[in-house]
Amino acid sequence: MIADVEVATLARAWGIAKPTHVLANVATTIAMKKPAAGLDGLIVGETAISTLDHGLHLRGFAIEDLVRQATYSEVAYLLLHGELPTHEQLADFRAILAEAAEVPPAILQLLEELPLHVAPMDALRTAISALAHFDEQPNETDDTASLGKAIRLLGQVPVLIAARQRLTRGLELIDSDPELSFAGNLLSLLTGRVPTARDERALDQSLICYADLEFNTSTFTARIVASTGSDLHSAVTAAVGALKGPLHGGANEDVLDVLLAVDSPARADKFVRDAIAKKRRLAGFGHRVYRDRPDPRAVVLKDICRELATTDEQHRLEEIAAAIEAAMWLHKQLRPNVDWPIARLYRMLGFDAELFTPLFVIARVAGWSAHVLEQQRDNRLIAPRANYTGPPPRTFVPLRER
Ligand code: ACO
Repeated sequence: MIADVEVATLARAWGIAKPTHVLANVATTIAMKKPAAGLDGLIVGETAISTLDHGLHLRGFAIEDLVRQATYSEVAYLLLHGELPTHEQLADFRAILAEAAEVPPAILQLLEELPLHVAPMDALRTAISALAHFDEQPNETDDTASLGKAIRLLGQVPVLIAARQRLTRGLELIDSDPELSFAGNLLSLLTGRVPTARDERALDQSLICYADLEFNTSTFTARIVASTGSDLHSAVTAAVGALKGPLHGGANEDVLDVLLAVDSPARADKFVRDAIAKKRRLAGFGHRVYRDRPDPRAVVLKDICRELATTDEQHRLEEIAAAIEAAMWLHKQLRPNVDWPIARLYRMLGFDAELFTPLFVIARVAGWSAHVLEQQRDNRLIAPRANYTGPPPRTFVPLRER
């Protein structure tokens, strides 16, 4: 039995307001007799932006409804402002985004001069950090300044990714087209072609799926940085670094290796059994939170992939994916996460695998920024403790005596 006064002390120590959340943390800690590895299951703060409690809801709206009925621009507005935009608000938002998309020439030059071996995700991390030096309010952290920076980054990140992609291929840069949708413009920046409605919609839906997900690792990273009083560019740069890892956003680049290693649905079962026997993790499967229920983004995107597939090769990849999925469930009871279908979707849109995680960044800038703003509005430094497992206090022996 935990006394109310102890709950209050713990609440203060953990910087959380609701006693129920304190009790959830205590229960996890007691049950495991030590802090949960990887903070598994721990509630480490509060948010009004998104929740995984029942599927995935962004500001109260189910992800399935947003994917089927909204556009990414509406979702970005929703995350940043808390409500869906009216027609007029959306038109204004899109106009501001288009204006904000300008990238200083020095950054474009940097993107051209970074060595060719630098991966798009690494070049993007560097460019976002460098953009801060050209921002009109680099160190301001008040609400208006941070919102302005968030909107500028939302507009600029697609330009950065497309510029690096085209410059390293010796291609002319394409100007942003304010008449196109967010996804349509992104496709045009990358390919130089007028996007088809089908490709534009599919890319938009993928961006909606990637836009936000409660206290995932990169978002938590961004919030930790913001909690120190640091600026939005620093928080987003750190978040890009966290997203890059293969256990998080970087997994979407590895999914194709898994799919292409299995050249027929009939071989999927053996492939999965071998991988499990070797304790190999298959990219695109498993999730820290979606364990006892499907990742709703994977479900909706699987249908979208099926709708999108037209060529024999695409249909075949869908069949192979379904066979691997069935085998993973049969042998390890693991379900696909969002990255599993999205890698196929991006392949169908003609993107190289090394662009997959940068595309994730484009979408998640909205989520990260919303969380940075929320953290800044009601901030307390995030500074946890560790359970010490090192040697007990001991006598120091000077170097000459060792
Ligand atoms: N392939 C094979 N086995 C797996 C996988 C996988 N993808 N994921 C988990 N497992 C196994 C583990 O080996 C472990 O098995 P064991 O109990 O026999 O030792 C069991 O499932 C439980 O795994 P945990 O390590 O407890 O899972 P955790 O919550 O720590 O990890 C993670 C979650 C990192 C996402 C993990 O599932 C993984 O590595 N997946 C592959 C990478 C990936 O797709 N990441 C993207 C996640 S979604 C996102 O960030 C956008």
